[in-house]
Parts: sequence; C-alpha cells; structure tokens
Amino acid sequence: MSTARSNFMAGLSALFSLFSTSVKDIGIDLGTANTLVYVRGRGIVLREPSVVAVDEHTDEVLAVGKQAKEMLGRTPESITAVRPLKDGVIADFEVTAAMLKYFVRKSISVGTFSRPHIVICIPSGVTEVERRAVEDAAKQAGAGRVDLILEPMAAALGAGLPVDKPKGCMVLDIGGGTSEVAVISYGDPIVAESVRVAGDRFDEAIAAYIRKKHGVILGERTAEEVKLQIGSAYPLENMQDVTMDVRGRSAANGQPVTITVAADDVREAMLQPLKSVFEAIHRVLVQTPPELSADLLETGITLTGGGALLRGLDRFLHEATGLPVRVAENPLDCVAEGAGRTLEGGAYIPANARRDREEV
Ligand SMILES: Nc1ncnc2c1ncn2[C@@H]1O[C@H](COP(=O)(O)OP(=O)(O)OP(=O)(O)O)[C@@H](O)[C@H]1O
Ligand SMILES: [Mg+2]
Repeated sequence: MSTARSNFMAGLSALFSLFSTSVKDIGIDLGTANTLVYVRGRGIVLREPSVVAVDEHTDEVLAVGKQAKEMLGRTPESITAVRPLKDGVIADFEVTAAMLKYFVRKSISVGTFSRPHIVICIPSGVTEVERRAVEDAAKQAGAGRVDLILEPMAAALGAGLPVDKPKGCMVLDIGGGTSEVAVISYGDPIVAESVRVAGDRFDEAIAAYIRKKHGVILGERTAEEVKLQIGSAYPLENMQDVTMDVRGRSAANGQPVTITVAADDVREAMLQPLKSVFEAIHRVLVQTPPELSADLLETGITLTGGGALLRGLDRFLHEATGLPVRVAENPLDCVAEGAGRTLEGGAYIPANARRDREEV
C-alpha cells in the first residue's frame, strides 16, 4: 500500500471513530410540564419546563425551557410563552419539534454523521396520530432512530420495580397532563388506564374554586404555587389552620388584590380531579386478574411523576384502595430514568419497546 493511500485510510478510520464515538443514545421524557433528557453512560443531564416563548409576528423561537417559563403570563402582546403539549400529547407540533431540538442539542452534539438513537415516552392512551407526532418530532430533533416506550412502563422501570418478574405490581404516574395507571407483570402492562387529569387539572380546580369563593382570578403559575405550598390530598394534622396570602385580579373590578387562602379549601378544590384519578385506579383493579390482584396486596401502588409529591396523596390512595402505597425515590425523574435504562448495556428492555423497535 502506498504511503499516501495508507495515510488516507488512517485518516478515514480516525474520522469514522470520531463520528461513531460521538453518536449518542438518549432517553427522553417529553412531558406536558417538564422534559428530561437521559444520556447513556451519563444519566439525566437536562430537566427543563416544556415551555417555549415565540414571537407572534415572525414565529421566531425566543426562549425555551426555564427562561421561557419565567415569561408565562407576563409577556408583551407580541410574545407568547406557550406550553406545546397539552394533556400528555403534542398540541402544537412545530413548537414541540423546535423545543425538542433545542433540548437535544443542549444535551449532546448532533451532526450529520452522528444522529442519536432516541427512546422517547408516550402515554398509554394515545392515538396512532399522536404517537406518530412524537416520533416525527424526535426525528426533526435529529434522531437517526426512534423507539417509543409506554410512559407507565418507563415509570415502573425508573422506580426500580421488578417489572420482568412474574409478580404483579402497580404504578401510578401523575404528571402535569396525564395520570397513567398500570399493573405490570412479566415485562408487560397487563391492564393500563390513562386519564387526562393530573397536576394541571389540580391547578385549574384551585383557580376555579378561588374565583367562585373569593371572586378573584389567579394566573396559571400562581394556582400551581398555591398547590405546591399548601396543597394536600388528605386532611393532615400539620396542615390544619395553614393559610397562604395569594395575589390575583378581582373578577368584579379588575383591580389587583391579595386574599388569604386556607389549606382546607385547597384540598376541597382538588377533590374532584383526585376522585377521577382514584376512579382510573379502580377501573384497573376491577380488570386485574385475581392472581395479580393478590400480588398487589403485597407489592401495592408505587407513585411516580410530579403529582406523587402532593402532600398526603399516599394516605388518600391507601384509604381509598386498602393497598400499601409508596412514593418512588425522585418521582420526577422516574420516566426519564426508565427510558434511559433501556439503553444501558445489559438492561432489561420492556416488551412494548421491543415491539415498537421492530415496527420502526
Ligand atoms: N411538591 C409537589 N406537590 C404537588 N404537585 C407537584 C409537586 N411538584 C411538582 N408537582 C406537579 O407535578 C406536575 C409535573 O410533573 P411531571 O414533571 O411528572 O409532569 P410531566 O411528565 O411533564 O407531565 P405528563 O407526564 O402528564 O405529560 C406539575 O403539575 C407540578 O405542579
Ligand atoms: Mg410524565
């Protein structure tokens, strides 16, 4: 081989190894409230709100994630801060694709020759069109290959549940837009339910209650803040007599006002959406085969997603179902952690992810 030719071959091989080592496998939890990115070998590298600020006149994306969330409800008329996902699914495709691209590029380097393999979550109740939209958004974000994984499977994996064992376990993932319930055994969701009632509905219920009781209109972020600070699903001793001063706008005269809201009122406001979540669990329990039901008496319900952090939710669900209930460690991370784990060497890959892989 001539020197020139061998130099050329060595250069080509160096170039190839550069490209192949920069190819990354990533897991993404594309959530209504938050998007998380897991990079193989590094773990979760990005946690940002699923919010984008767009210039109304030019459609230009001005800010994404944390920076855009700050702008929600506070922007001049020409700028809108939008949440491109609603109720767990993509509501605005172009904006979602732009957001995802930004998050992927913030997490890893993407080049023409180093398109990542992306495992991305979808709620279990989605339509074919909604599912395709997620896949296409991941491709637009730079994916060379896309695999889909059901959110409750990813949540269970990320919560460390023994999903591949022949023993039934139940996971309830309460996010911003959807609550997903599944009984899993032998690596498959045996029974699953998805309801479009979760954290956002709790916030809306709080805002509606305060408007009715106090005649005051709250912004989306303020209603969420009330839930985070004094919200509870169960009448806890340490929450009795707790109140919070809240600022809003009078429905009668449009003036800014401050009112005092009681924790008991916030709990009452959230009762209806909490009941909807319980009903989803009940429907799953009714459809669960008897042997697996017996397992649940021991393994109970594991709570994941941001909603799992609601005070007293475990006690509320324990009283309603009679089952042991536990909150997963780092519930906000479980879905991304689970999606990411399917990429790690030797990791157990759930059957639904395998099936989706064959289809792509
Ligand atoms: N401490 C807390 N108490 C109550 N709710 C909380 C708490 N922390 C976060 N949340 C709520 O959790 C929700 C966000 O959770 P998460 O990030 O799991 O949702 P998501 O994955 O983006 O949504 P989805 O899975 O429905 O698409 C928000 O509604 C937020 O208000
Ligand atoms: Mg989620």
